Amino acid sequence: MLQLYLNPLLNSLLSFYLQIAFIGKGEELDKLLKSTNFNPSEVIQLSQHEFFMPGMVDTHIHASQYSYAGTALDMPLLQWLNTYTFPVESQFKDLDFANRVYSKVVKRTLRNGTTTACYFATIHTDASLLLGKIANDFGQRALVGKVCMDRNNFVKHYKETMQESQDETCRYVSNLKNYPLVKPVVTPRFAPSCTGALLGQLGAIAKNNNLHIQSHVSENTEEVKLVKELFPDSESYTDVYYKHNLLTDKTVMAHGCHLSDEELALFRETGASLSHCPNSNISLCSGVLNVRNVLKQKVKLGLGTDVAGGYSASMLDAVRKALDSSKILTIQDPEHDTLTFEEAFMLATLGGSQALSLDDQIGNFEVGKDFDALRVNVAAPGGPIDLIQSEGPKVSDDRNIMEVFVAGRKVIPFTEPTA
Ligand code: GUN
Ligand code: FE
Repeated sequence: MLQLYLNPLLNSLLSFYLQIAFIGKGEELDKLLKSTNFNPSEVIQLSQHEFFMPGMVDTHIHASQYSYAGTALDMPLLQWLNTYTFPVESQFKDLDFANRVYSKVVKRTLRNGTTTACYFATIHTDASLLLGKIANDFGQRALVGKVCMDRNNFVKHYKETMQESQDETCRYVSNLKNYPLVKPVVTPRFAPSCTGALLGQLGAIAKNNNLHIQSHVSENTEEVKLVKELFPDSESYTDVYYKHNLLTDKTVMAHGCHLSDEELALFRETGASLSHCPNSNISLCSGVLNVRNVLKQKVKLGLGTDVAGGYSASMLDAVRKALDSSKILTIQDPEHDTLTFEEAFMLATLGGSQALSLDDQIGNFEVGKDFDALRVNVAAPGGPIDLIQSEGPKVSDDRNIMEVFVAGRKVIPFTEPTA
């Protein structure tokens, strides 16, 4: 039985963080403990059917779309954006509405074992700042992006001018401070909703402030066609972002179902990563990402729920849908090297941390990393041991996640944050 001991660190804001101090077994560990004056303050004894696993990393989720998860099932991407997404996102000007939806999505994802989430908010700066506060208050590690878009031909009131988008991004970045668990992300929605001028400005802001970047790329064939029309001077969809300095080693792009190998090479060379969102890709009939090829091309890859394109906010669902998607490719071509469940698990944890450039801090259990972890009980209702004598799939769900820790702090079961 492996044992983990945690080391309290006092960070600059006087919050306690627990990092992994030793990992060892029985005698080896006893010796280590005796040779130091380490005094573990709390011992967590796991029962027979329990284990710790690293917390899961959702590399792409729209917090603002949580209220209408399940709508992206009978229309393609661009039509769905115009029908549901833009009208609902425009309501986040109202901070009470934002507070209600954002509190729900943070609680729900934490409950499902997402210890780190990379969120899209909306174009509204104050509501986006509120999402950062809510994630931090509930103890979730998060990257949070205020969405930027200065083009929208369908819902005309839901967009900014280029100048507004640039100024508000700067205001957002300088105000999202003092939340130790949360970082800002520069977030051009996707190339079709931004002018080249705005993309260039956002690339410069990210570079000057060494910030993370997130967007969407090559999700659906209609969208790829539209990008060709809007950016005729670019060689590919990926090239649009590359030309505007938006592909860096702190960039994560969602989907990438229809990328060519040349485009994947651009990702590899710049250190940019992809977020594989299989539930959304299937729900919206966008495409099936060939994960094996992405891994072969040595592009960093994580998993994302892409709520509400994806109907589930659970990363366990993303793991299953990643396996299903890979099997679809194997059905089409029996030579296809199907993703294993160990690989899918890795994508949900360490892969996600690499995709978000947070792997020096989280993603697995290594000495020096923060203790982001789930205490899993496979005998709890719904789990494989419970179901062994009953009908139904032998897979787990959130009922098997007994406790969730972020930086060593127990955040599930949660206590409501004090105002
Ligand atoms: N592309 C641009 N915006 C969106 C969005 O909100 N969801 C998805 N799935 N794709 C997008
Ligand atoms: Fe998305």
